[in-house]
Amino acid sequence: MTGWHERLAVPRAPFIPSVVWVDDPATDGFVSVSRDDDETRWRELVAADEPIITQVDDGTTTPGNLGLRPSSSCSQPSLVAAMLTALEVHDGYRVLEIGTGTGWNAALLSARVGKRGHVVSVEVDPALAEDARRCLADAGYAPLVVTGDGAEGYAPEAPYDRITCTASVRAIPRPWIDQTRPGGVILTPWGTDYGDDALTRLEVHEDRSASGRCGINVAFMRVRHQRRDFLEPAADELDIAETTQTTRDGHELFEMVTFTRAAFTIGLRVPSCYFTVEDLDHDHRRIELHDVRSHSWSRVTLVRGQDPWTVHQYGPRRLWDEVDAAYIWWRDAGKPTPDRYGLTVTPDGTHTVWIDAPDSEHRWPL
Ligand SMILES: C[S@@+](CC[C@H](N)C(=O)[O-])C[C@H]1O[C@@H](n2cnc3c(N)ncnc32)[C@H](O)[C@@H]1O
Repeated sequence: MTGWHERLAVPRAPFIPSVVWVDDPATDGFVSVSRDDDETRWRELVAADEPIITQVDDGTTTPGNLGLRPSSSCSQPSLVAAMLTALEVHDGYRVLEIGTGTGWNAALLSARVGKRGHVVSVEVDPALAEDARRCLADAGYAPLVVTGDGAEGYAPEAPYDRITCTASVRAIPRPWIDQTRPGGVILTPWGTDYGDDALTRLEVHEDRSASGRCGINVAFMRVRHQRRDFLEPAADELDIAETTQTTRDGHELFEMVTFTRAAFTIGLRVPSCYFTVEDLDHDHRRIELHDVRSHSWSRVTLVRGQDPWTVHQYGPRRLWDEVDAAYIWWRDAGKPTPDRYGLTVTPDGTHTVWIDAPDSEHRWPL
């Protein structure tokens, strides 16, 4: 197996805009780094095996101001290489990419498929799509870059041998399956509201169903129309919230919020629930569970050395009870890791998850 450097045939730097963004721990936001002002820092960021944030707040925050939410990035090179390997792209293939971003991955795909192949890449943000078209042309590649919602795929150029998505989804859009040839592959970060996503590789079948395995943990930004919403428990809600105590210890709580432990399974069993973990100070940590739609929340407040810990629950759902029950299920099922899961999407759109095999006793529709 070659290293990721050797598998990336196109240099990254020409695709990176002159202004990029980095975390600012002091504010919890993102600050700009400009190539014109600090070329050394810019080059370090481009050379590192790390994602680079290339846009914040859908482009509404301009350089020099504080960004709140990353909205486009150039992915981590080693992950880009791993996804290209998992996608198994051959010379002459027709490939659809969702999430053009900088255009770097579209260039890598174009290099893979060669002159006989064809790459289409869809980007929702018109300004990003335009920049990517320019960078691709400058680098000598000519994939078709379409401005639009990638959830629709791109029917005029279908069928595709491969569809790859570089943003994450909670459900596999039906057009992706319809636009992939039987035997073709869809590779996408996929997951639930609860935690991070698994890189999921589905094969499309003659009957227009698709199935395959979940894999490594990947942290991609959500496609624009499937972003999460947060809620903030109000003081008067806290006053009337149901108050109990949990018998879970620190290790069990750690497992509940960790992807490679119980978090992936909990997300598959507790719909529309998102968690946050916040260290308030050296001795206090807070885990919160939110369901924005039903305006339900739960809060577990951990105080060092003072368990059992207090649980507040508010709203029509008892989210802590649901998550706790899913945790017990995970433990009783032998603590399945995310890579033991698979997903089948039937022609009617039902998503069914299973452990180890599609006909396993452990399978359920989402
Ligand atoms: C991680 S970046 C993509 C990285 C890119 N492949 C590269 O090589 O630089 C994700 C991109 O998906 C785009 N995106 C988000 N929602 C989308 C949607 N519904 N359709 C198409 N693109 C979308 C974002 O604007 C962002 O540019």
